[in-house]
Amino acid sequence: MEDKNRNILFSEEQISARIKEIGKVITEDYKGKNLYVLSLLRGSFIFAADLVRNIDTNAKIGFMTTSSYGHSEETTGVVRVVNDIPDNIEGYDVLIVDDIVDSGITMDFVVNHVKKFGASSVKTCVLLDKPSRRKVSIEPNYCCFQIEDVFVVGYGLNYGDYYRNIPYVFNWEEK
Ligand code: IMP
Ligand code: MG
Repeated sequence: MEDKNRNILFSEEQISARIKEIGKVITEDYKGKNLYVLSLLRGSFIFAADLVRNIDTNAKIGFMTTSSYGHSEETTGVVRVVNDIPDNIEGYDVLIVDDIVDSGITMDFVVNHVKKFGASSVKTCVLLDKPSRRKVSIEPNYCCFQIEDVFVVGYGLNYGDYYRNIPYVFNWEEK
């Protein structure tokens, strides 16, 4: 954790500027709608906290925890709900927020899960997108940055139990 020779992909300033842009777009898109921001834990807690402060329209905010069996670096394809949606989302325009879409299996699962509860609309917003890794066909509706097939950490993203608290995103493989 002391090694500061990190390959920083996205600095605090870059992330903050991009979230302001995305926040403006989401604000316009959800004016007059019934926005419910569903933040997926743990990975999106920092991103969601910054994002919602840049969304200038009424929004309910809730958290859901999923997990996939196996190693934390890669999903096994079996997603389970650890903590479910805490509110009745029937009639709401749900915006699912996550840290990253990798294989897409987690986001695809959550989109289908949310649809079961009668949401009026379901869209997705992620900090990062790794399109080259996709195993199921899903495109995030809002995405801050697309990246190559590299393992990244920081700004909520973890390796093992660590790095979530680092305020920028860096390439873990070249740390
Ligand atoms: P997916 O279901 O394969 O799309 O994976 C989604 C989850 O995998 C994310 O919410 C992350 O927890 C984890 N993940 C995927 N790629 C990375 C990465 O580069 N760094 C950290 N976590 C990642
Ligand atoms: Mg994770």
